Amino acid sequence: MEKSTPLSLRDESLSHWLGLREPADVAARSEPLTRRIADALPAGEAVCALDLATGTGSNIRYLMDRLPGGQRWLAVDRSAGLLAELRDRMSSFECEIETRQMDLGTLDDRQIFAGRHLVTASALLDLVSAEWLRTLAAHCRATGAAALFTITYNGRSSCVPAEPEDDLVRRLMNRHQKTDKGLGGPALGPDAVSCAAQQFAEIGYQVQCEPSDWTLGPEVADLQRMLIDGWAQAATEMAPEHLSTIAHWRERRLAHVDAGRSRLVVGHDDLAAWPPRNEELVR
Ligand SMILES: C[S@@+](CC[C@H](N)C(=O)[O-])C[C@H]1O[C@@H](n2cnc3c(N)ncnc32)[C@H](O)[C@@H]1O
Repeated sequence: MEKSTPLSLRDESLSHWLGLREPADVAARSEPLTRRIADALPAGEAVCALDLATGTGSNIRYLMDRLPGGQRWLAVDRSAGLLAELRDRMSSFECEIETRQMDLGTLDDRQIFAGRHLVTASALLDLVSAEWLRTLAAHCRATGAAALFTITYNGRSSCVPAEPEDDLVRRLMNRHQKTDKGLGGPALGPDAVSCAAQQFAEIGYQVQCEPSDWTLGPEVADLQRMLIDGWAQAATEMAPEHLSTIAHWRERRLAHVDAGRSRLVVGHDDLAAWPPRNEELVR
């Protein structure tokens, strides 16, 4: 096991964010879709799985107890620091986990897909382009891998107590979601799940989607604060002319959090796709 490398400031803040959101992701994910994918995996042989943009491995930690045993994972991310944290946190876990630092911007390395029974990712799909998704679906099809993509933001959110600018900030945030995130061109943002459903249907896969909304109450004040800060920053980037309106909105939203009365719902969807039964057996 390699020794961990120190986290950069950027990775440290991402790691903090991923740590805060992991329990919310676990609570929100669709158990029925996870079971559906577990049923599509081969029985009697080790499951060979790929986790794209793994971060610190939250998706693997969720899935490892819910998929058939004897798993072999490849965990890929561009951040060496987050991958080192994954290795530290999961060194005592029973399943085999290989990590690989790689920029997934073009997805042109087919080798990471070779022999996979499952290709999965969590909190990734809204960052990618339609072209990237088309390539991903083709790679899955080529190996007959099942696919599970969870916690994809769908553009819907609501805040209690309501503030007059909630809609404005959400609209600007959703526009920001569609800017280029370095994964194949302008990101799909809230359209990612419908686009993925179409792409996987076109390659002959069966597709099923389920909601996986975050419902955040006063007990997760730090997660709410980071979310509100992120929304305010994204909205300001899209409309600098609204800087002071957004700053005042942020102050009022944070005051609701501090007072223990803020509740946020953030809309997500999970998507599972699997090949026709006769192809699951041919790899
Ligand atoms: C929102 S985080 C999700 C992390 C993890 N899947 C989870 O659910 O906790 C997005 C992840 O994508 C990774 N990422 C973003 N762009 C990438 C790229 N071009 N190539 C590889 N990884 C990338 C980031 O380093 C980060 O770990």
